[in-house]
Amino acid sequence: MKLQGKVAMVTGSGQGIGRAIAVRLAREGVRVVVEDREDDASARATLALVREAGSDGCVIAGDIADARADRRVVEQAVAAMGQLDILVNNAGVERRADFWDVTEADYDLVMDVNLRGVFFTTQAFVRHLRETQRGGSVINISSVHEELPFPHFASYAASKGGLKMLMRDLAVELAPLGITVNNVAPGAVKTPINAALMSDPALMKSLLANIPLKRLGSPEDVANAVAFLAGDEAGYITGSTLYVDGGLLWNYAEQ
Ligand code: BGC
Repeated sequence: MKLQGKVAMVTGSGQGIGRAIAVRLAREGVRVVVEDREDDASARATLALVREAGSDGCVIAGDIADARADRRVVEQAVAAMGQLDILVNNAGVERRADFWDVTEADYDLVMDVNLRGVFFTTQAFVRHLRETQRGGSVINISSVHEELPFPHFASYAASKGGLKMLMRDLAVELAPLGITVNNVAPGAVKTPINAALMSDPALMKSLLANIPLKRLGSPEDVANAVAFLAGDEAGYITGSTLYVDGGLLWNYAEQ
């Protein structure tokens, strides 16, 4: 148990990649704040899995799109657990539309969760670390689309591109405080965000043709990378993106 004594908050951990991260960190001895929009059965199920993995934690609900909620969830997490050491900004949404049809509401939702939410949750976390004069680590769950265009998902690609530069910027600004900042960038992973894709055999076939390792990723594949970046062995890594994508991003070949 490499991370005994640490406390992590994982946003959006009621399901999917966030849940796998919560459980993986728990296996390393981390106590986990399961953050999600609602304190509901899914969030409670993640907490139960954290306990089964031999650790403990709590559920704290808040909408990451709302900066006031971002500050409140961090305050409540600190009040409940005594401290925070690791922030995993995992909550994310995507909306598909042709560019010319994108609504302001969908644009705002995607940017507010994926970028603004990360910004202000991280700000509240950093204030806590400064007040307690401790270092820590920030790990953002980004996407191959922080680098790779994603036609029909312009707001999503813009949010993840922004997340890449936010990560790089904060890595430099926060290094003097002993805070590392990195992104984990999944490709196509078996999670609810990809439900439509996974139920369409034709889409699946063309997607798999783009993935050199010829399979979708699992939430655990992503969680393993987060556990590494959260640990002391990654203490000299900051400002980096770790791709967990089966080779999707740089796949190009001529027949
Ligand atoms: C998106 C998925 C997409 C995958 C690969 C992810 O960031 O959330 O919808 O399948 O990238 O393109």
